[in-house]
Order: sequence, then structure tokens, then C-alpha cells
Amino acid sequence: MSEPTATAIKQIVDDDVDDQLDREIRDLLSTCFVKPGDEVFRERRYFTEMPSRRWLLRSDGRLVAHVAAHERTIEGGMRMLGIAEVCVLPTHRGRGLARALLATVHEWGIGAGFDFATLFGRREIYVSSGYQTCPAGVMVRDGGSESVFRPAGDLLIHRLGVLNWPKRVVDLRGPVF
Ligand SMILES: CC(C)(COP(=O)(O)OP(=O)(O)OC[C@H]1O[C@@H](n2cnc3c(N)ncnc32)[C@H](O)[C@@H]1OP(=O)(O)O)[C@@H](O)C(=O)NCCC(=O)NCCS
Repeated sequence: MSEPTATAIKQIVDDDVDDQLDREIRDLLSTCFVKPGDEVFRERRYFTEMPSRRWLLRSDGRLVAHVAAHERTIEGGMRMLGIAEVCVLPTHRGRGLARALLATVHEWGIGAGFDFATLFGRREIYVSSGYQTCPAGVMVRDGGSESVFRPAGDLLIHRLGVLNWPKRVVDLRGPVF
């Protein structure tokens, strides 16, 4: 597979996902996410709640890489993307595909006026895409409507606009993505 280009990466609004694409996304997510609890992807294409958009990359027609994004407005009217389900087929890893997809998402996010892209994930994967640890913890909803604290190290943030992330605990107004 040659290097991915921005034009090879397709964005789709989740409402436009048809049955065939739903199966392809679930297949990819189930292949890539194999921890206990990840079996949910066999049945549905999201973990806690449906993302609004997805970015997809195909190779020889096959879906090989995927990133989803949730759109949230939090305190102070700050608009953030909650990046989720970043995954690349095992045979296609180590070629910068995750980085390329994220760059495309960020470019779109800047154009759409988002202030931050955020994600819960391992720093070593995302630092080269511009993510850093958020300065304080965050509150998220757990399975019910309870708010639970997640420490600073759990959330990674990438600035897309001019705002600074608050230096205190921020309510993400929804579940973990
Ligand atoms: C994590 C994953 C998306 C990386 O995809 P990829 O296309 O191989 O990643 P890239 O080649 O774009 O690499 C991006 C960075 O992540 C690093 N990286 C990739 N896999 C890594 C791993 N398993 N451990 C540590 N770092 C890793 C790369 O070294 C690279 O860092 P650099 O830019 O500083 O050199 C892919 O391995 C995957 O789908 N894993 C299973 C699902 C998963 O864990 N998703 C992440 C949820 S937080």
C-alpha cells in the first residue's frame, strides 16, 4: 500500500452508515480491539455512544483504518472533538496510518471551528500527532447519570484553535469516548 493521501481518507457522517458499512466497521473494530469488554464491537459500531462522524481508509477495497469523533460543547462554550475507536488492521500497522487519519480529522476540526481534539489513550501513540496530557482531571458520566472523576493522565488534548484548556477539573458532559 502506498502512503495514504488526504484524498484517500474518506469522512462519513455516522447517520449515512448503511448495513454493509456497519458490518465492515464492526469487523475492523472487533479485529483491532480484543480486550475484555471490547466484544461489544461485534454487535455495535460504538463503545458508549454513537459518534457523529468517522474517517475511513481503504486498501484494495478493504477497510483498513478508522477514527471516530464525538462532538461536544463543554463549559465556556468550548467545542471539542472526542476522538474514539482509533484502529488500524494489524497487517497495516506501523506505516503512519493512524497519524495520517488523525491529521485529517484535525484539519477538518480546525475548519469546523473546534477548539480541541481530545482522547482517552496511550500517550506514546498520540504525542507525535500533537497530543499532550490535560492539565487537570475531568468529570465523565459513568454507565448511569453519575459523574465520575478521571485523573489528568487519562485524557489527552490537542489544541485546534486559540483557547487554552482550563487548568482545573473540566466536566466533559457525557460518557468516556
Ligand atoms: C494503535 C494503532 C491505532 C496504531 O496504528 P498505526 O497505524 O500502526 O500507528 P502509526 O504508524 O500511525 O504510529 C503512530 C505513533 O504510534 C506509535 N505506536 C504505534 N503502535 C504502538 C504501540 N503498540 N505501542 C507504542 N507506540 C505505538 C508509533 O511508534 C508512532 O509514534 P511516532 O509517530 O512517535 O513514531 C494500532 O496499533 C491499533 O489499531 N491498535 C489496536 C487498537 C488500539 O489500541 N487503538 C488505540 C486505542 S487508544
